[in-house]
Amino acid sequence: MPKYANDQPVGFQNTIERVAIVGAGGTIGTHIVSALLKAGKHTVTALSRKDSSNKLPEGVLVAPVDYNDEATLVAALQGQQFLIITMAPTAPRDTHSKLVQAAAKAGIPYVMPNWYGGDIDNIKLGEDTLLGPMGRANREEIERLGMQWITVCCGFWYDYSLAGGDSRFGFDLVKRSLTLYDDGNSKISTSTLAQVGRAVAKVLSLPVLPQDADDTSLTLSTFFNRSVYVKSFVVSQADMLASVKRVTGTTDADWTITRQDTKTRYEEGLAQVKSGNMAGFSKLLYSRVFYPDETRDLSTKVQNELLELPVESLDEATKAGIELDKELQLRTERMAA
Ligand SMILES: NC(=O)c1ccc[n+]([C@@H]2O[C@H](COP(=O)([O-])OP(=O)(O)OC[C@H]3O[C@@H](n4cnc5c(N)ncnc54)[C@H](OP(=O)(O)O)[C@@H]3O)[C@@H](O)[C@H]2O)c1
Repeated sequence: MPKYANDQPVGFQNTIERVAIVGAGGTIGTHIVSALLKAGKHTVTALSRKDSSNKLPEGVLVAPVDYNDEATLVAALQGQQFLIITMAPTAPRDTHSKLVQAAAKAGIPYVMPNWYGGDIDNIKLGEDTLLGPMGRANREEIERLGMQWITVCCGFWYDYSLAGGDSRFGFDLVKRSLTLYDDGNSKISTSTLAQVGRAVAKVLSLPVLPQDADDTSLTLSTFFNRSVYVKSFVVSQADMLASVKRVTGTTDADWTITRQDTKTRYEEGLAQVKSGNMAGFSKLLYSRVFYPDETRDLSTKVQNELLELPVESLDEATKAGIELDKELQLRTERMAA
């Protein structure tokens, strides 16, 4: 495709107006849809399984699909300009591929694949957490089918990971217990669900291509086959605990704090996964990211300023995490996975 809007055939539309999304009622999808609708520049169509019991946000069009019937996927994607995939990580492995193949058949040019995680350039971390090769395969398939991808590197979702139990950031907010990884001082990049939603909506609101060679403004094409890097906070578990104590009005005396070596915890999680117990996955994933001798601070790469994203309050995000914890208690099926 020519690089400039001025060189495109008559009728070329230099904005994204029609967006399809998988997982509109899911954890991150809800926030992406909310930010897109707030931006008010897009018609959002939710691809949702015919038998789904997920509540979809108001303001989206709904296209019921069956992943075992490609025609339903192609029909739902026809005429869309951008496909955002936020699919449950527990979905069968080939579901992402079925969707991407249908997107190519429907003529969709751009896809945001499942990821919303750490830095895709950190190959070793990707391999150790088992997610890297899967993410790379998803991106390569999109390219192979002639489409372009834009992925989001945001680190762990802060509010979601503070919630959901001990195997994530080490907090059990109900029991008021915390497992500190090593000394609890390793800092990692995190993003709130809302910040990720805003970042995606900003990127999708950009002009697709620069007008001509003199146009140096930010465009969607800046991100083709690349990542959008975003963060909210670079924090340690000690920072998180300080925030939780401020927000809940508690002191150290209210918390039961234990410590575990991250490398031991990682090996324990890995052994569980290898024996078929997927409860070990969060354990291996989070402990690996907190390894003390590496940097997972995305600050030098993040594009928050470029995308004019707001600076957020850690304590407000902690409050959101505490609220989300109550909601996540009800998602027993997902929690077990
Ligand atoms: N950075 C982080 O901390 C973090 C944390 C968790 C997840 N993630 C990543 O974020 C992405 C989305 O995760 P999420 O937690 O937002 O997903 P989710 O809420 O668990 O699920 C999203 C949607 O997937 C669809 N779905 C569920 N089961 C399915 C199945 N068997 N087959 C096909 N579709 C199915 C459902 O949509 P319908 O019911 O409408 O069909 C659901 O609403 C994944 O790539 C995941 O790895 C990142």
